[in-house]
Amino acid sequence: MSINRIFRAAPGGRASGAIRVPGDKSVSHRSIMLGAIAEGRTTVEGFLEGEDNLATLKAFRAMGVAISDPVGGRLEIQGVGLHGLKAPAAPLDMGNSGTAMRLITGLLAGQDFDATLIGDESLSKRPMERVAKPLRAMGARIETGEGGRPPVRVFGGQKLVGTRYEIPVASAQIKSALLLAGLYAQGRTTLVEPGVSRDHSERMLQAFGCPVAQDGLTVSLEPVPALKACHVVVPGDISSSAFFLVAASIAPGSELLIQNVGINPTRTGVLDILRLMGADLVLENERVLGAEPVADILVRHAKLKGIDIPEQLVPLAIDEFPVLFVAAACATGVTRLRGAEELRVKETDRIQVMADGLTALGIENRVLPDGIDIIGGPLMGGVVDSKGDHRIAMAFAVAALRASGTITIHDCLNVATSFPTFVRLAQDVGMHLNVEDQAVEDLHE
Ligand code: S3P
Repeated sequence: MSINRIFRAAPGGRASGAIRVPGDKSVSHRSIMLGAIAEGRTTVEGFLEGEDNLATLKAFRAMGVAISDPVGGRLEIQGVGLHGLKAPAAPLDMGNSGTAMRLITGLLAGQDFDATLIGDESLSKRPMERVAKPLRAMGARIETGEGGRPPVRVFGGQKLVGTRYEIPVASAQIKSALLLAGLYAQGRTTLVEPGVSRDHSERMLQAFGCPVAQDGLTVSLEPVPALKACHVVVPGDISSSAFFLVAASIAPGSELLIQNVGINPTRTGVLDILRLMGADLVLENERVLGAEPVADILVRHAKLKGIDIPEQLVPLAIDEFPVLFVAAACATGVTRLRGAEELRVKETDRIQVMADGLTALGIENRVLPDGIDIIGGPLMGGVVDSKGDHRIAMAFAVAALRASGTITIHDCLNVATSFPTFVRLAQDVGMHLNVEDQAVEDLHE
């Protein structure tokens, strides 16, 4: 038996008031990983207590690291040092999290024990050779499953050597996996990316006392004898705030303040794209918390227009496209996305699954291998399947603000991977969202 969590999003409503979204998922993962291999006690505040980050937390506990239970986003990690991790007794289950699996693969490459990484149905279909191949070039011994997918088996006791690698796609997961392996390599590790990807690993490594040189699209790291524990402040997740940025933009009468949002310039593509579409966004109270810049974002309803999304913004908004497609559906004219083939290897094929849902709601669209054209128009109510993808479930809940009938969204349990408080916050701001759990034989048969 499994559970089909259904979101019923009734039409209308708005997004008004003042909210805080939970902590950033990417920064939360990295706080555990670096805290675990640092020397001393790392304290974290603003940690995202979502399933993905809890999978990372459990994996490091299974490797012998004492980590307190998060309480209100606060936790403590007793670092064991670069060479203090222990062999886990069982395969490490990364659940739904590609970030956890890929970054931990890089870290495991430098250990002296063997370990296996497994994941859920979605993660078990995602490509892992993109990290395994360059790690092998550094001297790691790694086996992936059929078609280069999980399980990932990492064999310890290998001698790693720093390398120069040109990463074929702009991917912070690949870059970060190789930087983590670089901590254990002899000599310098240099990575060149084809486009800008999020730089949380670089910033946090510096905060833990490991210098990372950045020059345009090139980053390099020289191993240090030890990382030093520190205090990590996790900003609110701009990817979670994106649902509310679009909600307030599309729903007439909305005025919403989202407080304490991370505005790291490698993550703000969603702000740039929404502004190009005509959104009314004002950044207030800009400040720096720890290693990351944050701001409060004031968003008011605005008339959106379709645009050609500049390709260089794609990696800077990579997780925000499901809800940006909803913005495009509510805009006047056509929105064109290109150069976004990476969306096809996220938690689902986000181009196709979003296109199917938009079609079910009466929105005309044309799917291309690397993108989509979305023709803005009236949204009808209807039934859509998120296919277990958290961001697709939340995106269609937002769409109901402008729909003429109820939108029923299936397979929404995974919203808990990144945004466990989404439904409550959506209700708080004035969205008409309800949840129903149905027991089913097998959800994905
Ligand atoms: C992440 C990087 C991105 C993003 C993911 C989180 C990270 O993936 O989609 O949700 O924390 O490094 P890619 O770097 O593979 O694009």
